[in-house]
Amino acid sequence: MVKPLIVVASALLAAPAFAQEFSGPPAAKRGYEIFHNAEKASSCGNCHALGGKGLAVGPDLSRLARLNPRGIKIAILATRTQYVQSVRLKSGETFTGMEKSKEGDTIEYYDLGKQPPELRKFAKSDIASTQDNASWKHPAEGGGYTPQQLADIMSYIRFASYGDTKGVSPEDIE
Ligand code: HEC
Repeated sequence: MVKPLIVVASALLAAPAFAQEFSGPPAAKRGYEIFHNAEKASSCGNCHALGGKGLAVGPDLSRLARLNPRGIKIAILATRTQYVQSVRLKSGETFTGMEKSKEGDTIEYYDLGKQPPELRKFAKSDIASTQDNASWKHPAEGGGYTPQQLADIMSYIRFASYGDTKGVSPEDIE
């Protein structure tokens, strides 16, 4: 099984930005199609960039690709947010924001109240306050993914992150 892996890895290297067609093991391909399904607002790729595709609103998932599958599942289904904030503007408006960048006097947030999330830019002086957002729920929580679909998503995360071709099966995440 070493040979196909090398073939797949070099195909990826030769095709910058993932090209149009995905080539990889079947489980990773199924996961890829769920992850980057442009027709569904809750698709991971609307908020996570992976394999050269998607919008990097949320954290880079390749960081946790090597966790055991149950650990990844817990991270996907977690309802406690680490980074998402409630942002209150001096104008009185409050929105759910994920900070993208801070530079000089400006700060950018993805507004998670919009689908797909909308990038908004402010002067730092426009912000009245920010606090941890305890009410925002990660989409997958209610996303209705079956154990098979979750396993496929993880197979894709692993494949795209470090070329894993073994994949994850539903039993691994029970
Ligand atoms: C509407 C945008 C959005 C969508 C859609 C979305 N995510 Fe997320 N995701 C986020 C944000 C924002 C965070 C950071 C939450 C926090 O901790 O504050 C996050 C966090 C995560 C984390 C934890 C990462 C870490 O380093 O702590 C995982 C894993 C994850 N998402 C996986 C997924 C998967 C898999 C899907 C698709 C099934 C998905 N996400 C869909 C926005 C989204």
